Amino acid sequence: MKKNIASARINIESSKLLKELNDSLPFDKELYKEDITGSLAHSKMLAAQGIISSEDLELITKGLNELLEEIESGKVKLNSGDEDIHMAIERLLTAKIGDAAKRVHTARSRNDQVATDFRLYVLNNNLELARLILKVVESFINLAKENTDTLLPGMTHLQHAQPINFAYHMLAYASMFKRDYERFMSSYDRNNISPLGCAALAGTPHPINREQTAQELGFREPSINCLDTVSDRDFALEILFNISTMMMHISRLSEELILWSTSEFKFITLSDKHATGSSIMPQKKNPDIPELLRGKTGRVNGNLVALLTVMKGLPLAYNKDTQEDKEGVFDSVKTAKLSLMVLKEMIDEMKVNKENMEKACRVGHLSATDLADYMVKNLNMPFRDAYHLVGNIVNKSEELGKDISELTYEELSAIDGRFAQDVIDVLNIRNSMNARESFGGTSTVKTKEQIDILSNWLEQVKG
Ligand code: ARG
Repeated sequence: MKKNIASARINIESSKLLKELNDSLPFDKELYKEDITGSLAHSKMLAAQGIISSEDLELITKGLNELLEEIESGKVKLNSGDEDIHMAIERLLTAKIGDAAKRVHTARSRNDQVATDFRLYVLNNNLELARLILKVVESFINLAKENTDTLLPGMTHLQHAQPINFAYHMLAYASMFKRDYERFMSSYDRNNISPLGCAALAGTPHPINREQTAQELGFREPSINCLDTVSDRDFALEILFNISTMMMHISRLSEELILWSTSEFKFITLSDKHATGSSIMPQKKNPDIPELLRGKTGRVNGNLVALLTVMKGLPLAYNKDTQEDKEGVFDSVKTAKLSLMVLKEMIDEMKVNKENMEKACRVGHLSATDLADYMVKNLNMPFRDAYHLVGNIVNKSEELGKDISELTYEELSAIDGRFAQDVIDVLNIRNSMNARESFGGTSTVKTKEQIDILSNWLEQVKG
């Protein structure tokens, strides 16, 4: 019987079913590059510390680099039936260079090896996702720049509330995605520590140099406790949470885009590029892209909850349960990248129907709060009294079949004799939007200020 290279005391052939359950190569082959990079750094350190010879290092380095090329070109396929990517690379390297390859695993375990590979993958993808987020923020800012005067009914409870402008609404999303960016970057910073050299759980008696491998692999520093490090998957949970939160933001926007493309709203028109038809109804144009983005959010949330559940009962240190960490993360990362790219393209190419947005602002008495504010300022009324009086005026407008912004001075004076002529300006929808000049408010001036703040931030983080 041929022994599995990582099963020294197992004397009979593994059950086929065990292999099916146990083998992670079918999915962790995704980590081939990180695995080879980790082995290169580890071997270099082993040689520098005099643990392996420089001749062996030369063979190992050449062999690993060749292997990397062969995998990348498709010459070597990672479907060998090895248990995992670590064993596959070790076996392939041994076939290539012989005994030197068997020294690479000195002072290392698959426990710190997988923790290193996976952490490198997750850290890189924190950066990659953060980069893609910035492109989306840029699109929101561009859309905002063109729409600082575009009136839009601001809603609460999905009911018309107060007039805002479309740019302001887009900047709300820019602000959400800014937080997402910051979340990915802070996860990157927090988790930027090297597991390599932790070995199985307790460190190693070999005179290794963990600072060197940390530096070589681009980590800030080595981790401080090996027992924690080999069993820690917080970095994976963090990227899953960051993705879930970001996808939740994408989903909320998608919901609005779907609603806004209905015949009832018609606030936007999605490009035909981002819509599909129906197999039976020839007239249909369906918003499948935002629907799928909304749907994918369920999927990434599942991945987050799955890993939280895997981790919750694990004693220290490494347990094989942890092997379940990868597929969900790979899936969420791919889903998130594609979602961000599609989202950007969709918002860049959708048409904003300004007239429909403005028309909708004349429904729902959006300037009612302004009338109450007018009474507080000009008639010295307590806000609560003004609020109730405006409630009556709203009812009166409904009886007249008008929006409050369409009442004439005569109609208003008939309800309350204390109004001066300028009250009509206060009821004007655009004036109402522009009156909200407090910091962070919706007036065109304040919206432009937010565009400046966010653009400056963007320039700064893009570096
Ligand atoms: N394939 C394993 C994983 O993904 C690698 C670590 C295996 N370690 C072990 N002691 N069996 O977690």
